[in-house]
Amino acid sequence: MSFMLVKLLFVGLLVSYVNTFHLIVIGDWGDDNENQYRTARGMSALCQTVKCNGIISTGDNIYPAGVKSVNDPRFNTSWRNVYNLKGIQDKYWLMSMGNHDHDGNYKAQIEYTNVEPRWHLPSLWYDAQFQSGAIHLFSIDTVSIEKSVYDYKKQLQWLEDKLSKSKATWKVVFGHHPPVTGGKYAPGVPKTHYKIVPLLEKYKVDLYLAGHDHNLQHISKDDVRNEETKWIVDYVVSGGGGRKLAPKTANAENELMKRGYKLRFFRSQFGFVSLEFSKSDLLNVRYFEVTKPDTIEITYTFNRTKSAI
Ligand SMILES: *[C@@H]1O[C@H](CO)[C@@H](O)[C@H](O)[C@H]1NC(C)=O
Ligand SMILES: *[C@@H]1O[C@H](CO)[C@@H](O)[C@H](O)[C@H]1NC(C)=O
Repeated sequence: MSFMLVKLLFVGLLVSYVNTFHLIVIGDWGDDNENQYRTARGMSALCQTVKCNGIISTGDNIYPAGVKSVNDPRFNTSWRNVYNLKGIQDKYWLMSMGNHDHDGNYKAQIEYTNVEPRWHLPSLWYDAQFQSGAIHLFSIDTVSIEKSVYDYKKQLQWLEDKLSKSKATWKVVFGHHPPVTGGKYAPGVPKTHYKIVPLLEKYKVDLYLAGHDHNLQHISKDDVRNEETKWIVDYVVSGGGGRKLAPKTANAENELMKRGYKLRFFRSQFGFVSLEFSKSDLLNVRYFEVTKPDTIEITYTFNRTKSAI
């Protein structure tokens, strides 16, 4: 009995204690073009000045149609040989897949997890925990959801089950399609919106990270934080990894507003987003653009704090 209590207290302490943990979020990158290389150099520049722990991909890893097999040379030319720069060459990638990846042999991208230790995509959906479980990441396959294929109902059940049981301080879900967006797919990708958003709110997820729209965005509800139904999720679009950029939809702000969301930041630029979790229960989210060659510029930041909730 007392042992259980001590153990629980110990776990409780661990869970609320977060050392600085830094993740880069990048999407829509594997196009083998100068914009991809430039964004990679930007990531390298950042991770040489601050410690980066890992990289999250919000999908569309290999254009235009994924890979053919686990031996496809594109794993090298679009990924390994591009992100082999100082500061990032040894980083672990938490992958998700986009529609373009599904246009190829999606199973080969899963299989590649067994070939390359830095490529982590053990299945279409999976979770990963860091910092003794204080940070809980959930990678989902929104293509399954949009197309109603590959046991998508099982995936949704899995997500609900995992989220409901998670004791993490920070819960972050990532997948390719954005449930809300002000870009080309404004005001949001429908099935992902209707099936995922209720779970994010019900189980108090902090961030949802997406790509698909080739730009950088921050969107959240315009409500006041409120115990049950009005949990505020921060939606990040990080789709500026290299593929041709997409502009803002003319009426996006109004369309989002009608649904209760506010487009807080939108830039049609190449770049990436960084998530820095720190000891004081603070999550600092920064948007990096590489508009000028070999220059990274922070154009937007926002914070989430646990103590304020
Ligand atoms: C990719 O690069 C690795 C490391 O240089 C090499 O071992 C492997 O054979 C390459 N794969 C292909 C398909 O070219
Ligand atoms: C976020 O928190 C950091 C660290 O306390 C602070 O320097 C920064 O100004 C904050 N940013 C915003 C947008 O509030």
